Amino acid sequence: MGKLIVGNWKMNGLGPALVEAQAVAAGLGGLPGDRLGNSGVRVGLCPPATLVERLARCLAGSSVLVGGQDCHAEASGAFTGDVSAEMLSEAGAVLVILGHSERRSGYGETDALVASKVEAALRAGLEPIICVGETLAEREAGRAVAVVSTQVRGSLPQVLAGRPFALAYEPVWAIGTGLTPTTAQIEEIHAAVRAEMSAVLGAPGAQAPILYGGSVKPGNAAEILSVSEVGGALVGGASLKSADFLGIIAGAG
Ligand code: 13P
Repeated sequence: MGKLIVGNWKMNGLGPALVEAQAVAAGLGGLPGDRLGNSGVRVGLCPPATLVERLARCLAGSSVLVGGQDCHAEASGAFTGDVSAEMLSEAGAVLVILGHSERRSGYGETDALVASKVEAALRAGLEPIICVGETLAEREAGRAVAVVSTQVRGSLPQVLAGRPFALAYEPVWAIGTGLTPTTAQIEEIHAAVRAEMSAVLGAPGAQAPILYGGSVKPGNAAEILSVSEVGGALVGGASLKSADFLGIIAGAG
């Protein structure tokens, strides 16, 4: 199955940043047809909520998918400052990142809350990208597999079975640090995540891609993407510059 490469712009990007997204779309068009055609790489960009609609408009007709970075579990209501899955969908999003570690640690998001947001995403027809990952302290205590397995079990609602979604393994200590796990460490966690997904969802859990995220760059993308059970990448900083993001996408072909 083709890889899924998604850029997470986090809280970065004003109007002028749209040119980077347009350059990504143009760059994809410029890749040899067999790279995208036969390998079937899917590419997405998740800008801040304020840019979702404009990005969707300027990428209309391109192969780049647009996504949100979070959503509320409810469709509407008295939730000042929040955005619902339905609102993201209306704005042109087809993807939504949920349970990112910056939301788990900064906003106290629990596995149960993440699971309710996943249900909301499905309700609105969005494809959720559900994030899990251990802290450095948890890894050093030998608990990485246990922590990530628990997050997967708690964050995946049963209704996901048979619906399109992706899981993203993002070790907290690798995010924005330039550090990456060894390929053996990535392989170990991805195998554990796969086993847990299959245990929770049955056969459909064996199919959804498991992305790796955390300091993915053009220089390490091809190696990471070749690891067993790595079905793509979730890219932060390097997705802000079209040349870097295209370099990562080239590593997925
Ligand atoms: P970096 O690629 O900047 O390390 O961020 C990873 C991430 O958090 C993507 O969601």
